[in-house]
Amino acid sequence: MKFLLVYGTTEGQTQKVAGFVAQQLAQRGHRTEVLSAIDEAAATIDPRGFDAVIVAASVHAGHYQSAVTHFVSKNLAAIKARPNAFLSVSLAAAAGADDDDAQGLERCVAAFTQQTGWTPRTIHHVAGAFRYTAYDFLKRWAMKYIAHRKGGPMDTTRDHELTDWEDLARFVAGFLEHFESARPAAG
Ligand SMILES: Cc1cc2nc3c(=O)[nH]c(=O)nc-3n(C[C@H](O)[C@H](O)[C@H](O)COP(=O)(O)O)c2cc1C
Repeated sequence: MKFLLVYGTTEGQTQKVAGFVAQQLAQRGHRTEVLSAIDEAAATIDPRGFDAVIVAASVHAGHYQSAVTHFVSKNLAAIKARPNAFLSVSLAAAAGADDDDAQGLERCVAAFTQQTGWTPRTIHHVAGAFRYTAYDFLKRWAMKYIAHRKGGPMDTTRDHELTDWEDLARFVAGFLEHFESARPAAG
């Protein structure tokens, strides 16, 4: 099968998540075209040429990347017409997050759904990363403060990845299972 995976990333973790998902799909014999939502190719790609669409984006101050919102809005009918999934990357999805974090994520998804008109068939929350080495002074300070409040990593000399890769591999396997069981049996 042929998958289209369009992602938005600000510091790079969602790009890594997208690459991992494509690699997992390849291991199971599927091809994936991976595109950043800000690539020129994402402006012209037609999801109708694919069997399924996965969209991934990360949360920054309660919002996903606008290029992702734009891509989904523009291709809404084609995305809705095939198996689809949304990967939401955030720190609120990390292990140990509290009820406030969960409610915050629900609000992000609700706003995204309202803006795009897309209710993904599957939504999977992925824990992101503290990429201190990619932040400017202000961001580093703000993220360290958040880490302090939430009991997160505070060593700003390096990055801290909270992504649970095994959980993500299970998501891919589950998505494929659901997809394959929905196909009519051959013969
Ligand atoms: C400036 C900034 C704002 C953020 N805002 C949120 C937020 O509102 N909620 C959340 O759960 N995570 C938030 N995060 C964490 C990101 O979602 C997390 O670092 C993610 O891994 C970023 O993915 P990316 O590298 O693909 O952009 C924020 C991170 C930064 C740097």
